[in-house]
Amino acid sequence: MDYMDSEYFSYKNNELYCENIPLKELSKLYGTPLYVYSKNFMRDRYSEFTSAFESVNHKIFFAAKSNFNLNVMKLFYDLGSGIDVNSVGELYRALKIGADPKRMLLTGVGKTKDEIKLGLEHDVLMIKAESLEEVYQINKIAGEMGKVAPVAIRVNPDVDPQTHPYISTGLAENKFGIDSSKALEMFLECSSLSNVNLCGIDMHIGSQITSLDPYVEAVIKMTELTKKIISRGIKIEHFDIGGGFGIKYLNEVPFTPAELADALIPIFKQLDCEIFFEPGRFLTANGGALITEVLYTKSNNAKNFIVVDAAMTDLLRPSIYKAYHHIQPVEKNMEEEIVADVVGPVCESGDFLGKDRTITGCKANDLLAVMSAGAYGMVMASNYNARRRPPEVIVDKDKIFLARSRETFEHLLYDEKIIDELHA
Ligand code: LLP
Repeated sequence: MDYMDSEYFSYKNNELYCENIPLKELSKLYGTPLYVYSKNFMRDRYSEFTSAFESVNHKIFFAAKSNFNLNVMKLFYDLGSGIDVNSVGELYRALKIGADPKRMLLTGVGKTKDEIKLGLEHDVLMIKAESLEEVYQINKIAGEMGKVAPVAIRVNPDVDPQTHPYISTGLAENKFGIDSSKALEMFLECSSLSNVNLCGIDMHIGSQITSLDPYVEAVIKMTELTKKIISRGIKIEHFDIGGGFGIKYLNEVPFTPAELADALIPIFKQLDCEIFFEPGRFLTANGGALITEVLYTKSNNAKNFIVVDAAMTDLLRPSIYKAYHHIQPVEKNMEEEIVADVVGPVCESGDFLGKDRTITGCKANDLLAVMSAGAYGMVMASNYNARRRPPEVIVDKDKIFLARSRETFEHLLYDEKIIDELHA
């Protein structure tokens, strides 16, 4: 079988390590399933991204939705990143790390009045509006609060990001942003609103995009549009290209930040705007793994199954996108390879982490590592089947930090109680 090996997750004497710590040791300390993140992967990817664009005035806003563990957010924030928050829940988490709202963008296709109000109360750097009605709503709320809201309008550039349909956002048929053919008109209309400062233009065309072409096409379209808007007297300060930068889960050959920079910087230079980026997956995905223990193995006429203690409730991506996450042993063994489905304990046929995987034979109590799980892993975990969400551990060279403990049974009940009157 293939092994995914990097300087952050690598085999030493046939044992898989995160940085200098054997994953087996972590599973002994915290049990399984368990999320493990490499601090230095995240730090290095952030430096790689920001240095690629050092010749242009830019800011990075880490997309908290990809991994909102407080310590992960703080790691990027302390490196100089801002934070892209997609709800007041993410805003709340960002405030908890002491982040300055002036380094936050408030995103989201359907922000409620309360969310807009809270964003304004905290003076976030920019609120990204996705419809004309929303700009009017922001204007009204800002007026009631005696404020002027800094607003960007998200434009849908109608390009095909060539990614999974569920994570494509920049096609005309998608729900996001406003139609590019109506954008100029809308910017002009909104520029006269007294409680809105229209200071940004924004796009985000999708996620896990591995080809440069959709970015180049979209950024050219948006640049032409921005020039027209500016020529009509509207001062666009921020040009936000969103996130979506793809990574290698298996055979993908994604572009590097340096290649993205080579392709986009000449276009950016046509404008006198500060460029915003909102990477999520690129900064976190390959810095994380989900460690799980084999419970049972079995075969029926058609298939071999490896039943593990992690489930779709811990890592949902395989179930809903048929996403591929490489699965490999924590300890390499000499067993023969088999082809098997790696499945979880949840009562759904869709509960699998990998299908038809060629994997070295394993047995109960062996550990497996589900790779590339640092983005859209824990943040999409649920309590279905009343399962407790797993702990998250961050490794920094030879240091281990428990960043979030496994949920307890009390967490499962939170504030739920038996109402005696109901059963009287
Ligand atoms: N900015 C906006 C406005 C977004 O909607 C997103 C992701 C990002 C930035 C960050 O995108 P990234 O760089 O991480 O690709 N759950 C899916 C991914 C959904 C992405 C949603 N928006 C998955 O597991 O693949």
